[in-house]
Amino acid sequence: MNLVDISRKRYSVRAYLAQKVEPSKINYILECARLAPSACNMQPWFFYIIESEEAKGIVRRSYDREWFKTAPLYIVVCGDHSQSWKRNRFDNKDHCDVDVSIASEHLCLAVEDLGLGTCWVCNFDKNMLSEALNLPEHIEPIVLFPIGYVDEENSAVPEKKRKLLSEISKRL
Ligand SMILES: Cc1cc2nc3c(=O)[nH]c(=O)nc-3n(C[C@H](O)[C@H](O)[C@H](O)COP(=O)(O)O)c2cc1C
Repeated sequence: MNLVDISRKRYSVRAYLAQKVEPSKINYILECARLAPSACNMQPWFFYIIESEEAKGIVRRSYDREWFKTAPLYIVVCGDHSQSWKRNRFDNKDHCDVDVSIASEHLCLAVEDLGLGTCWVCNFDKNMLSEALNLPEHIEPIVLFPIGYVDEENSAVPEKKRKLLSEISKRL
């Protein structure tokens, strides 16, 4: 599959099999995320691989949805605001979210490349999760990724609804 095939095929998976994800696949996913570009190459990210029952319980409490509980593995992607590049010469914009998002989408596409499924999850209780994982002030959990083999029986592939290229681009 080339990149456009992977992009077309990927969708937010909200039903997983209990089957474990092999360590080699977890490493492949993390390696793709690690290679992501970032502003001034600061790489202001940190990945928590959530595999123990105790840690999974914490993550599941921060986003209390039945489908979310079906995942056998989670990766919590955090941004490190003490390392991220700020556009100091102009408006001080913190690029932490931008960098974390790039690494996170590398992660998502790697998951698809392996034939696994995932879903971006940002609608979680950030304060609760930060406290439960004992995160320092400058480390912000930005996105949760449930990851696993897709439960095809309970997961209908949705229609790809996207704006037309003509609506979102203009040649100048
Ligand atoms: C930044 C971001 C946050 C998201 N947060 C959630 C979430 O909290 N819960 C959820 O079920 N889906 C979440 N999604 C998934 C989107 O709803 C989904 O990507 C979008 O509807 C497009 O569908 P597709 O991923 O199947 O192509 C999020 C996606 C992004 C990019």
